[in-house]
Amino acid sequence: MSVEALNVSHPEFGRKTGIKPEDRTELAKALGVVLADTYMLFIKTQGVHWNVTGPAFVSIHELTEKHYTNMYEAIDEIAERIRALGEKAPASYTKYGELSEIEDKDEPQTAHDMLTMLIADHETAIAHMRSAVEWCEGKNDYVTADMLIARMAWHEEAVWMLKALTTD
Ligand SMILES: [Fe+2]
Repeated sequence: MSVEALNVSHPEFGRKTGIKPEDRTELAKALGVVLADTYMLFIKTQGVHWNVTGPAFVSIHELTEKHYTNMYEAIDEIAERIRALGEKAPASYTKYGELSEIEDKDEPQTAHDMLTMLIADHETAIAHMRSAVEWCEGKNDYVTADMLIARMAWHEEAVWMLKALTTD
């Protein structure tokens, strides 16, 4: 081990992990999109939790609470992975709006419309995560890939549960 590697103030300290510095920046950008998607979905899920009406109110109200609670914790995990890669985590609504393809929507809707909206948004998030996983594996970042695979599995289960509540 070189003397330089022992210097805690050295920018590469703790990051000699086999991932190239330029790849870490790109990986952090891909994770920034995942963070933005998760935040947008978190806000919209909480909106449905508050505003849904109709005969399925209790079921939707309870399921959306479970979902936004999970995403609240995931947001922190994703942001901290960006920091572990050495980059700053995006932390503003403006940046989330720019990074995510999930559109802000706060209009009166039926319960069915709300569920359909959330399903489409989860599917958007899953698609971005899938591309990010392929990219991470290509750059040897198996830690991020592993985290994203777990997130995708959770979002796929969320889609199933939301679909099961629709009236189609
Ligand atoms: Fe609540």
